[in-house]
Amino acid sequence: MSNAATSARSTDQTLLIKYAIHLALQGSPRECNELYRQKEFQEDLRRFGKDVFYMDFSYSQRKAFYTYVNNRLLGDVPVDYLEFGVAHGASLRDWTSINRHEGSRFIGFDSFEGLPENWTLKAPKGAFSTKGAPPKIDDKRVNLVKGLFQETVDAFSRSFESRNRLVLHMDADLYSSTLYVFMNLDRHIERGTIVLFDEFNARNYTDEYAALKDYCRACNRDYAMLAARPDHAKVAVEIL
Ligand SMILES: C[S@@+](CC[C@H](N)C(=O)[O-])C[C@H]1O[C@@H](n2cnc3c(N)ncnc32)[C@H](O)[C@@H]1O
Repeated sequence: MSNAATSARSTDQTLLIKYAIHLALQGSPRECNELYRQKEFQEDLRRFGKDVFYMDFSYSQRKAFYTYVNNRLLGDVPVDYLEFGVAHGASLRDWTSINRHEGSRFIGFDSFEGLPENWTLKAPKGAFSTKGAPPKIDDKRVNLVKGLFQETVDAFSRSFESRNRLVLHMDADLYSSTLYVFMNLDRHIERGTIVLFDEFNARNYTDEYAALKDYCRACNRDYAMLAARPDHAKVAVEIL
């Protein structure tokens, strides 16, 4: 190793030690959580190695990612597509236009009152509210379940009978909402269930990613990342 490389490495280590001392003495629980989740994510990423299909696209081009998931990962089969966080219905409409099978079912869950907790600075409590009004989606395969997940998902899960390959689209942003859904749908989640995330990397991996990890830990599950945008905001995983 050259002198320059050795000195860069020791600077890195010094910074890391300083940061660890800072965290131990003054770090907020949020800072500690962010560091822990980021490290855990880096470990996961090493595990998936080169098997992840990366696709670069902007927010307005999300449909191309959904099309890849539908056509290549699912093989364009009839699906039971459950979306958590519908708002104005943009992503739900995209999915109904991509997967045209008559036997597919699309069920969207939302209070339509916006986020139940503060999230980021740009998305405080109430963000994405449609003032309680569900979107109109002209497709008889679509059903919307209005209410907080904490008031609707348990009853839904107890009565739901799956018919098709299960696809979950987690777009509720929050750790609490995402974890609640996973835990209450565990009886329906099986090997091969595909789960899409819209904000996987948000707040340094402490929301949707953290909910997936904690669900896997609690219910003895594992996952593989199949496709992602390079920043890991939009991600598709398969439950193993
Ligand atoms: C980012 S928006 C969804 C956007 C939509 N999927 C799209 O891309 O077109 C997040 C939604 O999650 C909903 N949400 C978050 N947590 C919820 C909860 N616990 N119960 C019900 N709805 C929730 C909010 O009301 C909000 O409409």
